[in-house]
Amino acid sequence: MVKIPIEKLTKDEAKKELSRLAELIRYHDERYYAQDNPEITDAEYDELRIRLKSIEASYPDLVFPDSPSFHLGASPSKGFKKIRHAVPMLSLDNAFDEQDLFDFFTGIRNFILELKDESCQIETVVEPKIDGLSCSLRYENRALVYGVTRGDGNVGEDVTANVRTISDIPQFLPDQAPDIVEVRGEIYLSDADFLELNNRQSLLGGRLFANPRNAAAGSLRQLDPSITAARPLHFFAYAWGESSSSFAVSQWEARARLQEWGFNLNEPARLAQDFEALIQYYRYIQQVRSMLGYSIDGIVVKINRLDWQQRLGFASRSPRWAIAWKFPPEQAQTVVEDIVCQVGRTGKITPVANLRPINVGGVLVTRASLHNQDEIVRKDIRVGDTVMIQRAGDVIPQIVSVVISKRPSQSVVFKFPTVCPDCASNLIREKNEADSYCTGGLICSAQAIERLKHFVSRDAFDIEGLGEKTIVEFYSEGRIRSPLDIFKLKELKTFEPLFKKTGWGVVSASKLFDSIDQARRITLDRFIYALGIHQIGQVTSRLLASHYVQLEVFLKAMREASTPNSLSWQELLSIDGIGEGMAMELAAFFAEKHNLSLLESLMKEITILDFESASEGSYFSGKTVVFTGVLLGMTRSEAKAQAQALGLNVAGSVSKKTDYVVIGANPGTKEKQARIFNIPVLNEQEWLALLQNTDSRMLQ
Ligand code: IVH
Repeated sequence: MVKIPIEKLTKDEAKKELSRLAELIRYHDERYYAQDNPEITDAEYDELRIRLKSIEASYPDLVFPDSPSFHLGASPSKGFKKIRHAVPMLSLDNAFDEQDLFDFFTGIRNFILELKDESCQIETVVEPKIDGLSCSLRYENRALVYGVTRGDGNVGEDVTANVRTISDIPQFLPDQAPDIVEVRGEIYLSDADFLELNNRQSLLGGRLFANPRNAAAGSLRQLDPSITAARPLHFFAYAWGESSSSFAVSQWEARARLQEWGFNLNEPARLAQDFEALIQYYRYIQQVRSMLGYSIDGIVVKINRLDWQQRLGFASRSPRWAIAWKFPPEQAQTVVEDIVCQVGRTGKITPVANLRPINVGGVLVTRASLHNQDEIVRKDIRVGDTVMIQRAGDVIPQIVSVVISKRPSQSVVFKFPTVCPDCASNLIREKNEADSYCTGGLICSAQAIERLKHFVSRDAFDIEGLGEKTIVEFYSEGRIRSPLDIFKLKELKTFEPLFKKTGWGVVSASKLFDSIDQARRITLDRFIYALGIHQIGQVTSRLLASHYVQLEVFLKAMREASTPNSLSWQELLSIDGIGEGMAMELAAFFAEKHNLSLLESLMKEITILDFESASEGSYFSGKTVVFTGVLLGMTRSEAKAQAQALGLNVAGSVSKKTDYVVIGANPGTKEKQARIFNIPVLNEQEWLALLQNTDSRMLQ
């Protein structure tokens, strides 16, 4: 992939790059979290997120409302009951070197006023970072009531029956434990058990797991708990969610409590007094890593004082009081046997290297994504080349470099295709774009299949019976060519009835028809998302649905929006979170005759329900505050985070839409502006009192 340095990106390029990265991250989240079947390495994934974040930091006004920076993981899968976490289960930010770690501490010193003084020490707890899957165990009156996976961080899957089969997990807690407590930790498999499980799977012809983490996830998320019981899963406790009373003042003390209650802890852990101690611990764990008996991929550094943890709170998807310091990835050499090009939903071409299978750290690696043409050119990767690959926990690795000394003498430069490998239409590549696209549009079956897969996917029409294999099969038989055909499948007379096909009995066919029928009623937001319009992800679809509420209103507005500068165009742009790029994509989609006629026919088959807002909102949610002047009790960052946690928007300038202006010392012109607009002006104490009073009123 050509990576234009961020500072050299034009605003337009930055926008495109953000949408490309967001799409990629969502795709890989789905593979990782929902399918337990990742396609790229952790390192590659981290790289995507880091680049996304850096571009967002340079262009805050380009941040899409549905940016993956605000989200984590994928929605929970079907089959398990969903449970909402009382306290969200977030992930950790990653550090890759000492500088990253240094920046983490600088961030903390800039957040907590009393830590501005460098001589004030920040004590941390350091633990190994286990590569398993996280789980929250809820105990009420000291009895285990349920176990939930992380899911998307807010809603997870109810795996209670399965966690009850894990012997490391206590069913009851001793008397001294709080009445309500959620213990969080990692479910994992030992390396030996992982290898044995894969051996057994291969003897039985089952699917091999990419790594111990996927094996643990696959073992826990079994609808039949007896399968989980047969897998030797373990549990380490390292954190907690809701608790009815406080049980420690420091992380270190909390570890002791968890242990007293019967949990195993991540060992060997230490208390580190300073930066130097932390670095020593990191090096030590790297040395003993292979002797631990279970996979770890780094260390976790946590601020020891819980009152500081509380104040630091959370950024969008991770706490400010902890960070994962990852180990460098493992490397190995193998041979590129072939380079093939895949076609995505939008026509994007992704080249993939098929590798001579090789075992890297206990994992069989067979493929690597090559991203795009420039990546192949830059590294000059050719079929037959020996390449250095690296993986950091997953099955599909990165190609780091070519081992030129081992290049066969007759090797030829890889020729990137000029036509689509599926439909033979020409490929185009826009100026300044790294990706090539197939121009086949509707005639390209690869794109059509990808679009259909999106249409039936879980967050869209959610038609369970139509998996990838079935779609490909039905597509090639001509049974399903467009979304409309899905709803006509039952009445298809020209083909042999489904249940007369090999492999399809009456039961499976009627099950499929049932799931299609269930999908005939869909809410407006899911419907918009299902259309698969470029840049219009789940959050944007929800924004649009909550603005227009009814399908007819939405469609009328979208059709009109394709007239430049029409009122509908202006209205679309005025929606908070809809940028010009998105608006243009929408207008272009609804200006296409074939899209409109598809929609018209679809309407005869399905019912689109009005959008109903589910968010109750807190007293402050949606209100806007402006801070001005120097605050004395806390840093600006802390004040901002505290307000945001209560649902307030924090703005940089005063306007009619501002609800509160909070003034510190030397407030400047913003105070005057506030008085002009008649906006309540509060000093720091009044503000804190307002937050506290309103907060406690709401809790009553
Ligand atoms: S503390 C608010 N401690 O790593 C999150 N997490 O990449 C607090 N993990 O989601 C998490 N070992 O699943 C913590 N010693 C440890 C851990 C650990 C593994 C996992 C956990 C987390 C993920 C982040």
